[in-house]
Amino acid sequence: MCGIVGYVGYRDALGVVVDALRRMEYRGYDSAGVAILDGNGGIAVERKAGRLANLEAELDEAGAAKFAGTSGMGHTRWATHGAPTDRNAHPHRDCSGKLAVVHNGIIENFAPLRRELEDAGIELRSDTDTEVAVHLVARAYAEGPTAGDFTASVLAVLRRLDGAFTLVFTHADHPGTIVAARQSTPLVVGVGQGEMFIASDVTAFIEHTREAVELGQNQAVVITADGYTVTDFDGDTDVTSRPFTIDWDLAAAEKGGHDYFMLKEIEEQPTAVADTLIGHFVVDENGGRIVLDEQRLADQELREFDKVFVVACGSSYHAGLLAKYAIEHWTRVPVEVELASEFRYRDPVLDRSTLVVAVSQSGETADTLEAVRHAKEQKARVLAICNTNGAQIPRESDAVIYTRTGPEIGVASTKAFLAQVAANYLVGLALAQARGTKYPDEVAREFAELESMPKLIARVLETAPQVRAIARELAHVPTVLFLGRHVGYPVALEGALKLKELAYMHAEGFAAGELKHGPIALIEDGLPVIVVMPSPKGRAVLHSKLLSNIREIQARGARTIVIAEEGDDTVRPFADDLIEIPAAPTLFQPLLSTVPLQIFAAEVAQARGYDVDKPRNLAKSVTVE
Ligand code: AGP
Ligand code: GLU
Repeated sequence: MCGIVGYVGYRDALGVVVDALRRMEYRGYDSAGVAILDGNGGIAVERKAGRLANLEAELDEAGAAKFAGTSGMGHTRWATHGAPTDRNAHPHRDCSGKLAVVHNGIIENFAPLRRELEDAGIELRSDTDTEVAVHLVARAYAEGPTAGDFTASVLAVLRRLDGAFTLVFTHADHPGTIVAARQSTPLVVGVGQGEMFIASDVTAFIEHTREAVELGQNQAVVITADGYTVTDFDGDTDVTSRPFTIDWDLAAAEKGGHDYFMLKEIEEQPTAVADTLIGHFVVDENGGRIVLDEQRLADQELREFDKVFVVACGSSYHAGLLAKYAIEHWTRVPVEVELASEFRYRDPVLDRSTLVVAVSQSGETADTLEAVRHAKEQKARVLAICNTNGAQIPRESDAVIYTRTGPEIGVASTKAFLAQVAANYLVGLALAQARGTKYPDEVAREFAELESMPKLIARVLETAPQVRAIARELAHVPTVLFLGRHVGYPVALEGALKLKELAYMHAEGFAAGELKHGPIALIEDGLPVIVVMPSPKGRAVLHSKLLSNIREIQARGARTIVIAEEGDDTVRPFADDLIEIPAAPTLFQPLLSTVPLQIFAAEVAQARGYDVDKPRNLAKSVTVE
């Protein structure tokens, strides 16, 4: 996820582009760059790691004269492949320097394409997946059936790319034309008078025009100052795009029309999980295998581990608790999940045969970073699961798997949490694959289940109106309890944390089996208890025991709000409110059952008049112990 903008028109392109990047910086901000065409075959490019201000300082130093022109493009990066450095910042150019590209997303088949280019003697200068696109277009433009045709050369290359991508190309010899395309990631055209914009989202051009066109899947667009042409990747213009008038103000546009980033991020969860999985399964003669991009742990090492620790804080810790169920079930390797702040002070038993998985959205959490350092001192191998490319925790780890949710602005973790669960499951499948505790076809089946979750998450989002109505009824109760069994237990803990941190309401998550050992004393008339029911088709014993728990608390006056699988009629008589979610295998159900709890907490917070994105006393990244 990143910020992209292209412009062709009559204004000073640099000013238009930089203003747009500033408004889109929330979409990605580990580096930024611009390319401006002077209209006479020249192109000026500046790129800088760090926040947009670093690029602006470079531009100021270079002087506006160097960047004179009325067309160009810009990019704020959220790195997925290659650290956030100057050399990996976009735009990337071909060897001639005349052709430039900016990219949002992931080119899944970049590795074989990179090898093809290197075999042809082309020297790539970055570590990104993006760079292969510009060299391929340059080759198509230089020779072969599309030689000399900028648009046709781009289309020819688009047909070779796999993955989720928005790509925008400019060519110094075609200053009045920008060619762009999308496959899964967003792209909109801003339609002005004598000027055209192309961008990741409308915040880039909303101050200049409110007339926009949303491109459909696998579509390309050629923009000039006078208009735009939409085609498919074969150049066929018989395609449907969606013209619309933007009725949001700038603030709302940044949040996708929502009042808060967190609400937008809840809705981004299907894409966040899907993007995190991209490129992690390659089909081979055995049916396929898990590959982890920067795992840097050889299969032999994965076979040698005799213990796994997962260390993390907060929601990331809850993702770790879920990892325990999956990794132990798939590999039979013992997994301990530890709060990072406790881990190093209890003198855990670690050695070279221990794998420590450090889960962190920010990659800067002090407690988790210190746990990583302690693990390294004890000679354990450390694999980071992180959402921020180049952050301290992955830098100090032996290996890393990046969740690819784009920036998570809301302090309360939502899309990062689900993506962390998915990434942890990838680790479990990679371990099972390397150790042979699952056959290749079994690994392939589990991965296919994981890949099917984004669609099911999208269906759970449809329960939002029902969940919000319940939340508004309960917005002023003194406390809410959350119950779950097995993988439902970490979900209960996560639901309680969301309610605490967003609505400042006391909440507690319990393993339902613990009720009779004390907490049931809390049950009184009208007390709301949210219960996360397992699938009736999974571990039947879990389902029947949790049904008994529900009866016990309802008999004592609790108001039971039950999250259960669609069609689970056995639970209906005991649910004062029943929120139905799609069926999913036991281990994958948390990716669904967590979502109503996020929506519930956010709605209670809003009903209480609190800032959902910036809860009191909290920071997005806790960089102090
Ligand atoms: C979760 O909603 C909170 N924002 C918090 O618990 C967070 O998960 C925790 O601070 C860990 O942050 P990290 O993932 O960036 O390490
Ligand atoms: N995959 C590209 C990179 O890592 C684009 C990332 C983004 O969307 O900003 O540079």
